Amino acid sequence: MKITVIGAGNVGATVAQLLANDELASEIILVDVLEGIPEGKSLDMYESMPIFGSDSKIYGTTNYELTANSDIVIQTAGLARKPGMTRDDLLIKNAEIVSSCIGNAFKYSPNAYYIIVSNPLDVMTFLAYQITGLPRHKVIGMAGILDTARYRSFISMELGVSMQDIQGMILGGHGDTMVPLPRYTTVAGIPVTDLISKEKMDAICARAAGGGGEIVKYLKTGSAYYAPAAAAVQMVESIVKDQKRILPCSVMLQGEYGVNNVVVGVPVKLGKNGVEQVLELNLNNEEKAAFNTSVEHVKETIEEAKKILNL
Ligand code: 2OP
Repeated sequence: MKITVIGAGNVGATVAQLLANDELASEIILVDVLEGIPEGKSLDMYESMPIFGSDSKIYGTTNYELTANSDIVIQTAGLARKPGMTRDDLLIKNAEIVSSCIGNAFKYSPNAYYIIVSNPLDVMTFLAYQITGLPRHKVIGMAGILDTARYRSFISMELGVSMQDIQGMILGGHGDTMVPLPRYTTVAGIPVTDLISKEKMDAICARAAGGGGEIVKYLKTGSAYYAPAAAAVQMVESIVKDQKRILPCSVMLQGEYGVNNVVVGVPVKLGKNGVEQVLELNLNNEEKAAFNTSVEHVKETIEEAKKILNL
């Protein structure tokens, strides 16, 4: 397994380290435009492998030729939010960065699976899908796992129970319009709605939806990276080990949920063939309306991106 991580910033470097620690690839290539950074960070990580007991090889480079024939490419490069910004504020700059990175990577790895992490997430995943021309099961956006992890951690905090026992689902775009689903959330099989009042669940849902912004506010100079990186690595693990996990990911919809040609977060089965199935939940009217609002928002932002890039 050869995995390329594009972007040696906080998210990319953390992804590379987690992949290496878990030995999810024999070869990891960390690529960035800033000479010295990918090389230095990779060597530093490589030197930690004896301690972690992993034989993953990590190489840093500014040269995409070294990424050739990767099985998986993870796109993390792009600007991060500063306080007061929405993810959509990153659109113009990141559309250029993502197009250039994915274009370069695809030249050398036309058969790879592409996992997109750059923001605004759903739109960047759409761009990667357009640029590569790959089928939708090979171009997958990381967002739902992160949003759901935040949501699950807040539920754990509220109830004082293990994180491991909390299952949840969040649909829609990775932004303010995301749709947490308390009706599809359980604690060791018990509906969360039996354990937490509606008022408190509303507050947890709102905190999850604003979870990225909460971290930006603390960090001031950038956005979250530990949880985003862990979420991307969970996607890799499910593909590499053919786990067939059911995880919320951003994927091109082709008729599911009555939506066509929009990339947005829904539950999917992730295995050795990437997205092996899109699961359609039976949404009630309120959930459906919230999902449709989120889809409309992503759709508008995709149209803006297309204009910027003349697609
Ligand atoms: C987040 O939600 C960076 O979008 C990412 O933290």
